[in-house]
Amino acid sequence: MSKQDEMKRLAAEKAVEFVPENEYIGIGTGSTVNFFIEALGKSGKQIKGAVSTSQKSAELMAQYGIPEIHPNEAMKLAVYIDGADEINHSLQMIKGGGGAHLPEKIVAKLSEKFICIADESKYVSRLGKFPLPLEVVGMARSMVSRQIVKMGGQPELRIGFKSLHGNEIVDVRGLDLSQPLTMERQLNEITGIVENGLFAERPADLLILARENGVVELIT
Ligand code: A5P
Repeated sequence: MSKQDEMKRLAAEKAVEFVPENEYIGIGTGSTVNFFIEALGKSGKQIKGAVSTSQKSAELMAQYGIPEIHPNEAMKLAVYIDGADEINHSLQMIKGGGGAHLPEKIVAKLSEKFICIADESKYVSRLGKFPLPLEVVGMARSMVSRQIVKMGGQPELRIGFKSLHGNEIVDVRGLDLSQPLTMERQLNEITGIVENGLFAERPADLLILARENGVVELIT
């Protein structure tokens, strides 16, 4: 296992301690979350059920005997565990590297507590090195892209990829993300963008960050 994977595993294992028994929870998507699903499954903790944010996570949950529920069955989720592509010191994030940021944002907003699990490479003082994913309705792709260029961004279609809901993903570099909340709202006002990967309106409540010298818990 690489050093980075080892850090992801340590953060994921720590997060299991924050899962309350006999509650509904949310489970994100990605390689860090895969370690979490494995650790939760092996922990023997009993939860009522979990909402998953992707087919891949759902399959892994089934493998480890974690019961899945549909988001519409859950009034609220006690906790949501997910990774991030970048997370800043205010615990605002860029997500969607796996193209799942729309279900992830829905589940994050359904949850009372959002715990982000990450290795130290994800922790940044300023968001924006990682390209920002936009989930876009196919027929609006070019129109949205022209708008993004006007805003100073460089859009690039994720070729051959469709989201869980059948939409396209456009990855954007070069936008000024110094005001993440303003940009998150501004982007979602563009017709054709279903959701963008900025998580500023709903930042994480806790970051479990694995560093080379150990795991730390960070709040804002
Ligand atoms: C999925 O769409 C993303 O939001 C993931 O949470 C993010 O890409 C983190 O993935 P890794 O844990 O694989 O880095």
